[in-house]
Amino acid sequence: MIETLYQTLEGIGYTHPLHPPMVHLPVGLILGAFLFLLIAQIFLRPGLAKTARHCMVLALVSLIPAILLGLMDWQHRFGGVLQFPIIMKLILAGALLVLVCVSIVLGRQDEVRSLKHLVVYALCTLTVSGIGYFGGEIVYGKNSVQTSAEAGLVGEGAAVFQQKCAACHFTDKTDNKLGPGLKGLFKKQKMASSGLSVSESNIRAQLKTPFRAMPPFADLPPDKMDALIEYLKTL
Ligand code: HEC
Repeated sequence: MIETLYQTLEGIGYTHPLHPPMVHLPVGLILGAFLFLLIAQIFLRPGLAKTARHCMVLALVSLIPAILLGLMDWQHRFGGVLQFPIIMKLILAGALLVLVCVSIVLGRQDEVRSLKHLVVYALCTLTVSGIGYFGGEIVYGKNSVQTSAEAGLVGEGAAVFQQKCAACHFTDKTDNKLGPGLKGLFKKQKMASSGLSVSESNIRAQLKTPFRAMPPFADLPPDKMDALIEYLKTL
């Protein structure tokens, strides 16, 4: 059902993920709520405390679709794989839901200067910033999460490797089996056997017309070959 929705959107030209445009609404409202409450408490303005609470109610209303769309994007783009930044976002989103509910309940009390009240609002702001931080990690971080298409290609290459290459090559060390170990292949300057520089084209050439004793794999279909190369890059 989720895929049908994304396909329909693609059909009308929308190919972006759905979570990012939605998520700015609760983020902005929570930051606004905190600022309104802070000003209300400093200058004793009960009207602004009410505004803060209203922002939190709207934040709760918009948080629910933002979380649901986040879960959908996670299934669609990352195949629902649990990776560290995603685990953190899930935990923090759960905490934020609880905190926002608590802040709304607390906001019903009339007393304007309440430290408890301010602390809960501040926690909401911190939590929502944390969620934003891990969202950034998923897309821009050093170990940015692979989309399911990328992960799928590498996985397919690994399967080809197991079938065709693993008998003669280690992948976790550079020791010789029948051929040289391929750990860190793309990080090396030269290939151990031929002495040629390590490049995608030289490796494709090695697979088609091997240097010496390795059997040729010229008949491997191009998509399998591409997947295999992507896998070799990860070693
Ligand atoms: C029957 C054993 C055998 C199989 C199967 C085999 N290789 Fe090789 N491979 C070798 C040998 C031996 C060499 C050394 C160069 C030569 O003889 O061509 C080598 C060299 C290489 C090299 C150059 C490495 C370097 O550092 O010089 C790469 C890359 C490579 N193989 C990748 C693969 C891949 C990918 C597959 C699977 C599609 C594969 N090999 C299957 C035996 C094998």
